[in-house]
Amino acid sequence: MVCLISIIGSGRVGTAIAFLCVSNALDDVLLLNRTKDKAIGESLDIVNAIPSTSKFSIHGTDDYSKLAGSDIVVITASTGVYMKDRTENMDSQVTMIKEIAEKIKHNCPSAIILVISNPLDVLTYFFQRETKFSRFKVIGIASSLDSSRFRYFISEKLSVPQSSISNALVLGEHGDSLVPIFSGVSVGGKAILSMIDNDEKDSLISSVRNYWRKLRSYKSRSQFGIAKNAYDVIDAIINSKELSIPVSVVLEGEFGEKDVCIGVPVKITSKGIAEIKDTKLDESERESFKISAQTIRNNIQSIVQ
Ligand SMILES: NC(=O)c1ccc[n+]([C@@H]2O[C@H](COP(=O)([O-])OP(=O)(O)OC[C@H]3O[C@@H](n4cnc5c(N)ncnc54)[C@H](OP(=O)(O)O)[C@@H]3O)[C@@H](O)[C@H]2O)c1
Repeated sequence: MVCLISIIGSGRVGTAIAFLCVSNALDDVLLLNRTKDKAIGESLDIVNAIPSTSKFSIHGTDDYSKLAGSDIVVITASTGVYMKDRTENMDSQVTMIKEIAEKIKHNCPSAIILVISNPLDVLTYFFQRETKFSRFKVIGIASSLDSSRFRYFISEKLSVPQSSISNALVLGEHGDSLVPIFSGVSVGGKAILSMIDNDEKDSLISSVRNYWRKLRSYKSRSQFGIAKNAYDVIDAIINSKELSIPVSVVLEGEFGEKDVCIGVPVKITSKGIAEIKDTKLDESERESFKISAQTIRNNIQSIVQ
């Protein structure tokens, strides 16, 4: 069966995801962008990456009616660049996501939605609220990227390969209140908390929190890390693989929170989120998670309804 992966926004992130899907012969891809020529131009470039054995293709458009029949819609659209904080353009991004939500609801109400645009947790929340799609089919992708960054810094700090690190999870907001979960991490089978002191722990937290700021001092914006994280989710959905990662999802009592969208560990299958996994947190991690949830909730409530 041929599936359709539609990607809204043909900027850095949208095109990097499209390139991975097409070059790995995952399925047909539709690039939809506000400026039509950009979507067409990017698809004309990416189309040359189709393997000769692939039966799939890619097209560009600005026409939302072409979303009809989409199995997965990935939202990477953005109205501007934030400089100091991911919530900087929150009002215009929320207006944008509401408009996109309306069009998706009209054209492909059965699709599984991956939200990538920032502020991630707030936009995922408003998308789900506007469409009333099942919360298990509206998936905000970011905590898995934060977790990749956490694992990377642990490997650098302890001079070990990333493959020797287990359970390097980052939960909470995709923002400054993110919560790296040290209590579950093991390195070569040993608890990380027996290998680092509090100062080293704080320094790792700060490195993960400020990763994007450091990256911005070398390169305008990130694209490849998030693209691979999104690709893995699309691959799991299309090829019925089980994937355990943290994503942002609307909570209804899990982790003691409700009416908020926040990064928690889940199991992804072909249907979207199959399960929100309960995870052991120590007392300070539980407290930090609570503060993070309240930070997101405050942002949601600050939007003029
Ligand atoms: N979740 C994560 O971990 C993560 C990581 C990296 C980036 N991000 C976020 O991902 C988003 C995209 O980043 P980027 O670097 O790819 O941005 P970008 O290069 O500026 O691209 C954004 C694209 O969205 C298009 N667009 C804007 N409004 C639209 C609408 N209503 N419908 C369709 N297309 C629309 C723009 O079209 P025009 O050509 O008309 O301008 C532009 O091509 C940002 O919000 C960024 O913060 C998230």
